[in-house]
Amino acid sequence: MNETYRDALRNNMDVRSISTSRLDWSEDTLAIGVFESEVELTGDLATLDQKFAGVLKELITEMEFKGKSGSSVVTRVGSGQSVRKVMFLGLGQPETLTLDGLRQAAASAARLATKEKSQVLGLSLPPWQNDAALTAGAIVEGLVLALHQDQRFKSEEDSAPKLQRVELLGLGEQDAAIAQAQKICEGVILARELVAAPANVVTPGKLAETAEQIAHECGLELEILETEDCEKLGMGAFLGVSHASDLPPKFIHLTYKPNGTPRRRLALIGKGVTFDSGGLNIKGAGSGIEMMKTDMGGAAAVLGAAQVLGRLKPGVELHFIVAATENMISGRAVRPGDILTASNGKTIEVNNTDAEGRLTLADALVFAEKLGVDAIVDLATLTGACVVALGDGIAGLWSSSDGLAAELAQTAELTGEKVWRMPLEEKYLSLIKSPIADLKNSAGRAAGAITGALFLKEFVKETAWAHLDVAGTVWADKEDGYNSAGATGYGVRLLVNWALLEGAEAGKSDG
Ligand code: BES
Ligand code: MN
Ligand code: ZN
Repeated sequence: MNETYRDALRNNMDVRSISTSRLDWSEDTLAIGVFESEVELTGDLATLDQKFAGVLKELITEMEFKGKSGSSVVTRVGSGQSVRKVMFLGLGQPETLTLDGLRQAAASAARLATKEKSQVLGLSLPPWQNDAALTAGAIVEGLVLALHQDQRFKSEEDSAPKLQRVELLGLGEQDAAIAQAQKICEGVILARELVAAPANVVTPGKLAETAEQIAHECGLELEILETEDCEKLGMGAFLGVSHASDLPPKFIHLTYKPNGTPRRRLALIGKGVTFDSGGLNIKGAGSGIEMMKTDMGGAAAVLGAAQVLGRLKPGVELHFIVAATENMISGRAVRPGDILTASNGKTIEVNNTDAEGRLTLADALVFAEKLGVDAIVDLATLTGACVVALGDGIAGLWSSSDGLAAELAQTAELTGEKVWRMPLEEKYLSLIKSPIADLKNSAGRAAGAITGALFLKEFVKETAWAHLDVAGTVWADKEDGYNSAGATGYGVRLLVNWALLEGAEAGKSDG
């Protein structure tokens, strides 16, 4: 796999859950989560304060620490103590604590510990809803994802001291949960690094190679359709987009089959436009064209999830699909007004070459449905309109199945990858009807994210389907919790946990 992220993980700290209490723990830095009601320091926290000669009480008073969610304070405790520093992490009120709140608390502990030059961290956070395994997993995610740094394109290595070891206190033995969370983080980091790498590095060929490495490592089946193969399948919409690029498109299909009869059969599709210039409707100044290396964020999430699920081996059959291409300009480019025919026979008037994602996804959706799966989920950096509607912190969710939409929303609640369900308003379908062909690929500014979703829906006949518009969420301008500034790896944890849920609760959904 990608050497750099392997390195990052190798240097990465070791996390373990131990039975030592926070009163007895005696290494470098002790971090303790406290609710607002606990800042008076009673019980074992009072004992701990005595042990450190009242320094903790002083810290709380001096810094006016109220235990508010997201707040933190740190102090050096007196010399002669084996613990060097103590930090408090505010958790707000117990009723409003979420699993993601604990993930965020772990992230701030990791960041603060690094800033304080701590090498060993003891972390005491309460179990969420008495589920110590789920909590340990979320904490590992918060720690590892907050500390991941992408140094691949720097010529000099960052030599700052790194946190070496984290010991989780008070959660019991959690080896399995920790190991699973580490694997999940590796998938998120793979996705982040695919998105963050520029378009001259992550090409359609590079996405195909990544799929090949995953297939090789995890024993998945791999099918790469070249241009001629796509032509035979009639994928005119996808190929139209690829036409102007000097780089050959790759239609990637990875398959994971469990031992025995699969409980469900699922397809995960990611938009894989490795660079979106807009085509002949070229993106102008101020359009964010320099960020269009991120237009394969959906594909990155799907490949990240493939790596994780290929290692975890759940009882569901999984198809990972990416129609990878660039959207470029040249004499061979699809022209505004050209008509393309997709693999289900539908004709599309390309009235805007910058609405290319839906063209690539049209053929991917048709391909997925032909596999006879029980559900299809696509992730796509599809529209700027979705960013206008929901910002960079929430993905739009559209689904033809209430059951599938509910499952994804519930999963997102746990993983902290926010989604908001949007309507598939039938009335707006008229906006993407073409006078000359069956459909046109772009409508006006009004309801731009919805008309994008409605266009995709035209390529799914009866399979339960959900679409996530991740145009805003794949990238963060500023550091926030366990997301550093840059690629977020959004969607990997959502897809992984949803697939695991489908394996555990097969058939519960209506879709
Ligand atoms: N890749 C873009 C969408 C996008 C915008 C992603 C901002 C990330 C950040 C997509 O291909 C696109 O260009 N969409 C057009 C659609 C329009 C022409 C109907 C858009 O959003 O303007
Ligand atoms: Mn575009
Ligand atoms: Zn695009």
